[in-house]
Amino acid sequence: MKVYLDNAATTPLAPEVFDAMVPYLKNEFGNPSSTHFYGRQTKAAIETARRKVAELIHSKPSEIIFTSGGTEADNMALNCAISDLGVQRIITSSIEHHAIIHTAEHICNKSKIELDLVKLTENGHVDLNHLEELLTKSEKKTIVSLMHGNNEIGNLLPLNKVSKLCRKHNAYFHSDTVQTMGHYTFDLEALDIDFITCAAHKFHGPKGVGFLYVNNKLKNTPFIHGGSQERGMRGGTENLYGIIGLAKAMELAYSGLKDHQKQVQSLKTHMINSLRSSFKEVDFHGDITPENSLYTVLNVCLPKTSKASMLLFTLDLKGVACSGGSACTSGSNKGSHVLEGIAADVSKPNVRFSFSRYTKMEEVDYALEVLNEVYRKNLVE
Ligand SMILES: Cc1ncc(COP(=O)(O)O)c(C=O)c1O
Repeated sequence: MKVYLDNAATTPLAPEVFDAMVPYLKNEFGNPSSTHFYGRQTKAAIETARRKVAELIHSKPSEIIFTSGGTEADNMALNCAISDLGVQRIITSSIEHHAIIHTAEHICNKSKIELDLVKLTENGHVDLNHLEELLTKSEKKTIVSLMHGNNEIGNLLPLNKVSKLCRKHNAYFHSDTVQTMGHYTFDLEALDIDFITCAAHKFHGPKGVGFLYVNNKLKNTPFIHGGSQERGMRGGTENLYGIIGLAKAMELAYSGLKDHQKQVQSLKTHMINSLRSSFKEVDFHGDITPENSLYTVLNVCLPKTSKASMLLFTLDLKGVACSGGSACTSGSNKGSHVLEGIAADVSKPNVRFSFSRYTKMEEVDYALEVLNEVYRKNLVE
């Protein structure tokens, strides 16, 4: 048996998404910038996709810029804030995705832009009092970039509260919503935010496509220069079939959202309860309460073994695909910056299980069975 429990890394393509993309991989191939029939046809398809995406998150089509994924959208948000909005300071946290941390560090190393890291609470939430302190202490024009759902520990940020704080202190607000787009509803008429980011492959869409939402109030110039695609905001021939797939994946994700949320949360709760009954010493990183945590992610801290580095490898051999969260489990020299950021005990094996609406209870049970076997037979001793 093979089970895929690494959906925070990427998700399988939904069959309906594949079907929606096929015509654009076959017959409808025109360059959307061409003025002839072939081009007009694909241009119209892209604009229909943009309208669909905008409608689903209650924004305007002109606020959606299609990109090559989450990383490009994150880069675009920070770089545009610096080059177009007069931002002189970035506030972020040490547990953001590298698409934000490395971008912020790069910007701040090559210019006089200040970088401030907000403190985290013991269970990995952003300390909102410290955020307010940081926002109060400087007159510099600031962008706050804080992710909505953490891809390793699953903690959720209260977007409304952070948005209000940012507005109170006249700061711009970007949230990396890569792990929550397609998994939670967004109402951008009600939520006052400047930028959010999306990657289609996190909700059963294709890889290599995403978007940046840019609030219409902002005046931005392109991040990628070239042709006049995306209303001049992002040069380069559009990823036509990717954009079609993204819109279809979003439509599917939102059409059954409540059921998906319930179903996936029940898998996570089952895993938590079963692990607690099998392992006395088990612990979980981050906040695992359903209201404060991604229902798709569970980061488990398992009992110590002398060969923790073998755990992921052994799970993989037994057909369980999941991911590690620290040096000792990932097999790399570098540990997880997220676990380090929350001062987690990385001497114990940490494993991230992540679920999707296609995950079956039997698959979770199989993973639990394998984990129990691994410990019972001391396969990692
Ligand atoms: C929170 C978060 N931000 C950004 C990204 C990067 O997205 P992409 O792989 O589409 O560039 C990821 C992907 O793992 C992510 O989990």
